[in-house]
Amino acid sequence: MDFKEGLLTRRSIRKFEKSTVSQAEIEDILKIAMYAPSAKNLQPWEFVVISEPKALAEIKAFHPYTSFIEEAGQAILVCGDVAVQHKEGNWVTDASAATQNILYACHEKGLGAVWCGIFPDADFMTWFEKKFELPEHIKPLSLVIFGKIETGFEARQPSTRFKPEKIHWQKW
Ligand SMILES: Cc1cc2nc3c(=O)[nH]c(=O)nc-3n(C[C@H](O)[C@H](O)[C@H](O)COP(=O)(O)O)c2cc1C
Repeated sequence: MDFKEGLLTRRSIRKFEKSTVSQAEIEDILKIAMYAPSAKNLQPWEFVVISEPKALAEIKAFHPYTSFIEEAGQAILVCGDVAVQHKEGNWVTDASAATQNILYACHEKGLGAVWCGIFPDADFMTWFEKKFELPEHIKPLSLVIFGKIETGFEARQPSTRFKPEKIHWQKW
């Protein structure tokens, strides 16, 4: 896939069919995640790979926008380390960059993926912290649900998002 084409054709995918993504493929996805930019190159991200059916079912029961998680079969909890970040808040910027890299890595592999929000919802954060036994200094940012796209499902191409009026040259 051409790089620019990949950037322009990625969509959130919520239609999956049961299939296991291999550990090697998941590690490759996470390798790409770890090549994201980060403040001072501190790379404060941490990842929890979740595929146990019970855990997936519990996430679905708790998080209202993850109804497709069991069909997908796996997810990555993207976290940031507040003890490693450069400045307060950089765990969010840096874990977000890693999250986006995961979405593109999945797209490049022909896998479906969607960024499910955790931060900044305090209740969501607390639930994931407890459920996945995160240490005090590790904060959950997003949950990327990913897997084999349902056979026959074709994501619609994004409508034009380019809005020249959002570009301000030299000054607002
Ligand atoms: C911070 C954030 C939180 C999101 N949370 C969810 C979510 O909980 N569930 C979901 O299905 N999609 C979620 N999305 C995906 C957005 O709905 C999606 O990116 C947006 O509609 C644009 O569509 P696209 O990704 O296909 O371009 C989230 C995206 C972001 C960036």
